[in-house]
Amino acid sequence: MAQPDPEKRMAELREIIAHHDELYYRQAAPEISDRDYDELKRELAEWEVANPLLALIDSPTQKVGDDRSDGFESYVHRERMMSLDNTYSGEEMQEFIARLERELERTDLTFVIEPKIDGLAVSVTYEHGRLVRAVTRGNGVEGDDITANAKTIRDLPGELKGTGDAPLPDVIEIRGEIFMTTEEFQRINAEREEQGQELYKNPRNLAAGTVKQLDATVVAQRRLEIVLYGRGYTEPVEALPQTQQQFFGWVKAWGLPTVPHQWVARSGPEVLAAIAELDDQRHHLPYPTDGAVVKLDSIALQRTIGATSKAPRWAMAYKFEAERAETQLRAISIQVGRTGVLTPVAELEPVQLAGTTVSRATLHNGDEIARKDIRVGDFVSVEKAGEIIPAVIAVNLARRRPECVPYEFPAKCPVCGTATIQLEGEVAVRCPNVECPVQVRRRVQHFASRASLDIEGLGEAMVDQLVEKGWVKRLPDLYQLDRENLLTLGKNVGKSTDKLLAAIEASKTAELWRFIHGLGIPHVGAAASKDLARVFGGLRELADATMADYVKDKESVISGIGATMAAALIAYFADEQNRAMIDDLLTLGVNPDSPGAGGGGSKFVGQTFVLTGTLPTLTRNEAAEMIEAQGGKVSGSVSKKTSYVVAGTEAGSKLAKAEKLGVTVINEATLRDLLD
Ligand code: IVH
Repeated sequence: MAQPDPEKRMAELREIIAHHDELYYRQAAPEISDRDYDELKRELAEWEVANPLLALIDSPTQKVGDDRSDGFESYVHRERMMSLDNTYSGEEMQEFIARLERELERTDLTFVIEPKIDGLAVSVTYEHGRLVRAVTRGNGVEGDDITANAKTIRDLPGELKGTGDAPLPDVIEIRGEIFMTTEEFQRINAEREEQGQELYKNPRNLAAGTVKQLDATVVAQRRLEIVLYGRGYTEPVEALPQTQQQFFGWVKAWGLPTVPHQWVARSGPEVLAAIAELDDQRHHLPYPTDGAVVKLDSIALQRTIGATSKAPRWAMAYKFEAERAETQLRAISIQVGRTGVLTPVAELEPVQLAGTTVSRATLHNGDEIARKDIRVGDFVSVEKAGEIIPAVIAVNLARRRPECVPYEFPAKCPVCGTATIQLEGEVAVRCPNVECPVQVRRRVQHFASRASLDIEGLGEAMVDQLVEKGWVKRLPDLYQLDRENLLTLGKNVGKSTDKLLAAIEASKTAELWRFIHGLGIPHVGAAASKDLARVFGGLRELADATMADYVKDKESVISGIGATMAAALIAYFADEQNRAMIDDLLTLGVNPDSPGAGGGGSKFVGQTFVLTGTLPTLTRNEAAEMIEAQGGKVSGSVSKKTSYVVAGTEAGSKLAKAEKLGVTVINEATLRDLLD
């Protein structure tokens, strides 16, 4: 094979890695396995060693991934937060140990081995024993302030216990991992499945996605967990522990959750034995582990060995290979979702994988099938990404039979036969027919589901019947159901029919956010719907919003509404059919109950508030609701028109801007006074 041009290949690799960094760190929705990602980075690193002049200073091999996202205040870590070098090979692990022995010129080193928890890195700061802040790793230098969300974690104490043996430092940044148990992950996914929502791929993505929710009440409904394993900035320096083991003991004594078990090893073989033991146990552990972390025990020696630009040189992660199995691909079936997206699914010859029988796996989209050249009849390897939902990783070409032909993605919707379309810049192929029966069914199911209008008696089976009979083609049809027709659905259904009709009638005045969510606009989830309801106060107002109402100077006006979501909203309401549907809903008497309208007072009519920083007792959402209940508006950016900036601790650029513009800055107590 011809050697690729180094410069070209390196640029290409940087671009691919940046793409996957964005998916993993910011969107919590990776497309490739950790293993494949690590392989890309390794290839780039090899090219850089061979071609040092072409290596860029800011190459992804030289820095930690960046998890910062819109809507959070930034916070600069007092001590940099690093990542870890990793390997999949025992040999390389032994080399790591040999290197430390060589550089430190001694063979009596002690190592600790801990499970590597698969979650989101976090730094929690305690000052005089009190929890003051929780920040994500971000780019290693500064991260997102997620204090409000971290406070919903039950096991994270607000106050540390000081003991004689474990003295409390004045200030300490403690590093750890926020994660979710497999059990909680399955509970949430089961709930989402019931509501026809997209499933999360693995606990890590769900935990990361949850930590980055702007609405702490959503976070509180999902059970996040935390373990703490490392130390950042510490004051005074005399408060530093001598060893990693001692620090582990202190963390426990202070009342913080730690990694459940540590192994101690004094040689390469002992380290490998500990890793093997952990590998044996990990499937029975209640938290997700993707490897082992091997650390030099002595803090003094850690300092001697130092760090590279992105990782300590005294620690190394050993990552476990995701479990794979080979099996035959019997067929590719196509599922049509609520928004018309066609998703290919692999129908497999059943095979045992990580303790379960796997017979179906996701194929993501047509591009993915083409890229991997997956053909029906092929032998493919399946992997449990994050150990939960299986995916087809690759084809075993050696076993390909000549009669296997390249797969052609259907040009027509398998349900209604309409020619499919692919929107520019999207990988998804869609059925554009809004009347496609599957789409109608899924859309109505979503509208009636607990997460949206919560209409009792209108479960999935009932919706299936209504759509099948042709009585419901669009959402407004729900409000024009004919009682006599419904009575034909079965014997003795009189009572339940009346109950159903009453529930549908009652839904007309449900909370506005439920309607917004129920429309099923791409990218618009429950939390965003609540934000939109608060800001716009009515369906009509929302339908008439322009880009400028969402985004000003690239800054989101409404916290939580990014450019993608704003574009999806605009596109949705620009569609004539959707507008007509909203009109019909309103004509039929749908009259959502909006927090701004009715019920509340009018103390803040005509006034605009901006919230910044962490308030002592209120979440941002609570504060916003209180303001809006009095007719006030809450905006995401400060301007001369802003009436008040409500600032909490760690307020950032918005506070500075308010001061510059001479906008009145108040605290939570003053806000409460104004409300009284
Ligand atoms: S120690 C200076 N210990 O893995 C960095 N990290 O892939 C020290 N992680 O960034 C990190 N479990 O977020 C350490 N027991 C553990 C860990 C752990 C999970 C994470 C951490 C790190 C990432 C590297």
